[in-house]
Order: sequence, then C-alpha cells, then structure tokens
Amino acid sequence: MNDRDHFSSTTISESLVKEKFGNPLYYYNSIGSTNNEAKILAANGAPEGSLIVADEQTAGRGRFNRHWSTPKGSSLAVSFILRSKLSSPEISQMPMLGGLATAYAIEQLCNTSPKLKWPNDIWIKQKKIAGILVETSYTEDLPEWLILGIGVNVNSGPLEFTNPYYDASCLADIIGHKVDRVNLLQQLVHNVGLLYNQLDQNSIREEWQKRMLWKNQHIEVIGSGHKPIEGIALGVEINGALLLQLHTGDCIKIYSGETRLKSN
Ligand code: BTN
Repeated sequence: MNDRDHFSSTTISESLVKEKFGNPLYYYNSIGSTNNEAKILAANGAPEGSLIVADEQTAGRGRFNRHWSTPKGSSLAVSFILRSKLSSPEISQMPMLGGLATAYAIEQLCNTSPKLKWPNDIWIKQKKIAGILVETSYTEDLPEWLILGIGVNVNSGPLEFTNPYYDASCLADIIGHKVDRVNLLQQLVHNVGLLYNQLDQNSIREEWQKRMLWKNQHIEVIGSGHKPIEGIALGVEINGALLLQLHTGDCIKIYSGETRLKSN
C-alpha cells in the first residue's frame, strides 16, 4: 500500500472527529519539529486537544537533543498540547502514558507486542521503533502546558541513526507489510485520550511494567557524565523512576538516563 496520498490534513481530521485530541489539528507537509511548533502554539494560547502532525520533520529532536529522523511519507511525528492534568505526579507519568499509548496502537494494528524500554522507548525484536519526548513549561513554578511528542518509524527506518547503544528499525520491516499511517495515528490519539483519564490511578504504571523490556535482568544505566550504574531492573515507581537493585541488595531510584542490557 502506498499511503502517501492518503495521509493528509483531510483524512486525518476526518479520522479524529470522535477523539478527545485532534481539534484543532495543525497539519504540515514538512516542518522543523512538531514539538517546537507545539511549544509556539501553546505559548500563544492553543487549547488542550490541539494536535500537531507532520509528514516530514527536518529538525526532529529526541531526548538529550539527539536528532530524530522523520523522512517524508513514511513515519508518524505528532505532538499533543496538554493543559488540564498537570500536577507533578501526572506530569511524571506522561512519558509512560505516551509509550503505552503507542505500544497499544501498534499491537492493535500490527499484531505484534512491543516492549517498553525505560524511560521513553518502544522496542520490537531488540530494535527501537518509536520514542517519546515530553516538554513542560512552568510559570512561577506552576506547570502551564505540556507537549507530548511521539515519533514512530512506520514504513521506513530512520535515514540516519547514530545511537551507539542499539539499532533502530520500522514497523513495516518487522511485520512484513506497510502500515496505514492514518489508522495508526487515529488509534494512537484514541489511546492517549483513554489513558489521559487514568492518570490519577496506578494503572498506567502497572500496564507499563507488564511490557517493560529487561525487567528483572542485569542492566546498566548511563547518566549524563556519571559512571554507569549496574543492577537488576525491578520496575518503575508511579512517577516513572526506575527501580534498580544494586549488587549490595540496596534498591535505588533513577530519574534520568539511558539503559543497556549487560551481558553476563
Ligand atoms: C527519543 O527517542 O529520543 C524521543 C524521540 C521523539 C521524537 C518525536 S517526533 C514528534 C516530536 N517532535 C520532535 O521533534 N520530537 C518528537
């Protein structure tokens, strides 16, 4: 299937008529970064529900300001503007919410069950398929808006991928056929809407943990500028912190970093 013709402002807005998010829809054939655009729109008062979608990103960003490749006609690059549920515990669950919503959408349409790699990645068969980038704006210490950015490699992998720690791929290469991006986007938006109503419960953490990559395995966590920390990945806290059991038996919480499987 060639879904290039099918992925447009009209087809997307029609598919989202009944959804909680996607109104207003800002669709771009090509843009630098949907998260950057979302931030500008949010700062200018765009309401909760606004959704920014691009067919191509020329300056897509990942965590730690890494480049995120979104080649034309083949990926999903979307950013949600959220405003209403922004207490600290809710904000800290947003990366898990984004990962879970993406994993469910892939499962619902592609008959494959993705794993969630702490903190923000969606993996299938030992390869990264999608990532989440959450950015929040505070005014006088109070959260004003939050951007939930989601990128999925759908029908082609990234043009360039330079992370030394792992490989990336796309859904089509894994399941053996192309995926309709409008359907995948609609399912993703639907799932974000459902999970957004569950932020005050423990269910997001519990469901995220069920899909956790390398749960109960020996991993190392690479933080910024620190020595890697090794331990057994036990799970996550309600605020998204990684629970790591050290060789001493002590259990610590880690709030940021990148994980890697340790071969024993
Ligand atoms: C990561 O894995 O490091 C996060 C990747 C997040 C990419 C998405 S694509 C849509 C949105 N716009 C961006 O510039 N980044 C996010």
